[in-house]
Amino acid sequence: MTSLSAGHRVRTSFECSSCGAPHPSWVGRCGTCGDWNALVEVPVARSGSASGSGAVLEVGKAQPMSALSPDESSVVPTGIAEVDRAFGGGLVPGSVTLLGGEPGVGKSTLTLQLAAARVRAGGRVLLVSAEESAAQVRLRAERLGAVYDGLWLADDTSIEAIVSHLDELRPDLLIVDSVQTVHLVAEGGAPGSISQVRASAQRLVSEAKTRSLATVLIGHLTKDGSLAGPKTLEHVVDTVAELAGDRHQALRMLRIVKHRFGPTDEIGLFSMDADGLQSVADPSRLFLADRATDVPGSVVVPALEGHRPLLLEVQALVVRSSTPHPRRSPQGLDGRRLALLLAVLERRVGIDLSALDVYATVVGGAQATEPAADLPLALAVVSAVVGRPLGSDTVALAEVGLGGELRQVTSTGRRLSEAVRLGFHRAVVPASTQDPPEGIELVRASTLAEAVASVGLLSVGGAC
Ligand code: TYD
Ligand code: MG
Repeated sequence: MTSLSAGHRVRTSFECSSCGAPHPSWVGRCGTCGDWNALVEVPVARSGSASGSGAVLEVGKAQPMSALSPDESSVVPTGIAEVDRAFGGGLVPGSVTLLGGEPGVGKSTLTLQLAAARVRAGGRVLLVSAEESAAQVRLRAERLGAVYDGLWLADDTSIEAIVSHLDELRPDLLIVDSVQTVHLVAEGGAPGSISQVRASAQRLVSEAKTRSLATVLIGHLTKDGSLAGPKTLEHVVDTVAELAGDRHQALRMLRIVKHRFGPTDEIGLFSMDADGLQSVADPSRLFLADRATDVPGSVVVPALEGHRPLLLEVQALVVRSSTPHPRRSPQGLDGRRLALLLAVLERRVGIDLSALDVYATVVGGAQATEPAADLPLALAVVSAVVGRPLGSDTVALAEVGLGGELRQVTSTGRRLSEAVRLGFHRAVVPASTQDPPEGIELVRASTLAEAVASVGLLSVGGAC
């Protein structure tokens, strides 16, 4: 039996850098999350610390719900429309937000714009830039028109120094760029280590709460797209937000993953211009601006990003393959979903794609990975194969099952209303779809083969 005797303490000396799980000794693979080579050494916890004998235990007081003030979580608008939309109105004093995103996506730009907007609204901001020099930040501030007296910059890397700045300046917004580059001197160990990131974040969270200070911590993303550092970091903060976007495209999406003060799943959309991130109020119009309507292989999907309907153009191109293993090249789409749809097209609709390379993309660097994009993607492929366009005023939305059946997706009414707003008059939908909003005619189909036939791409049951 391997039970531990009473009072025996395991001395943790390794920790998984992916999930934060403790390990008494080094092993090649973390037993908790399964990541390889993720274990890092951490200082061994000393027994008999401050909580040892003689420490006075402070007992808090429970309070009746009715005695608590609801004002403590009142939202303060940031002044940037799309940030306010994503955060459900703005930032809450005393709240801590972790903002993740790949290098170069625009985290420092967005937070500097947040800082400038706060100062313009009469606030005072401390920006801790442990990642870039003060001169670099000043250069960016000039570009963004963010050079103000009320915006303070510190390039300290120790939490102790940051806290003393907070005592002196009493800001109402603190931005730390990034949480991986600051460290708590009292904790020991290198900045960026699991224990340091956790200890630094915990200290900043407690400062935010006691000072009613809205705080934004910038965090790095690992190669697989998750936030670097211990998973516990996400539990310590109130809000986890991610800024995403293709570096070669202007579009940036701010997505709220966790939010203690409002709805999650909301998104804010921006375009990265020469003078920073600009809110995009009408993204559907932006995505469809340069659409060529008479080209085969183009279908518009009324997608849903968070709670927001968004019209996206899905495109497909097929060419004769020169290899025995034809290419399937999805961009902004789920590759496994594309493979599945091609299989369904072959078996249920009778379209032979075995000698064709298939390229499929969502225009504008956007993503359409939800099931609603199944039917538009399949129709785009068929349209490309037969070389016939679908009709410039037509949208399509449905999940496609393995039997070739079409299934309804969520919020059909809202999606179709957005299509009507942008001038679409016809929608290919599953047979069970309820009556549509005014201004759009439904083409109901129960199978993919029926849908393909009803928009005039093929006759029922006919292969190309
Ligand atoms: P940055 O905010 O430094 O990204 P992060 O902090 O996430 O690493 O943004 C870097 C990119 O943004 C860089 O490629 C230049 C571009 N950019 C603009 O296009 N316009 C601007 O006004 C600014 C400040 C940056
Ligand atoms: Mg940066």
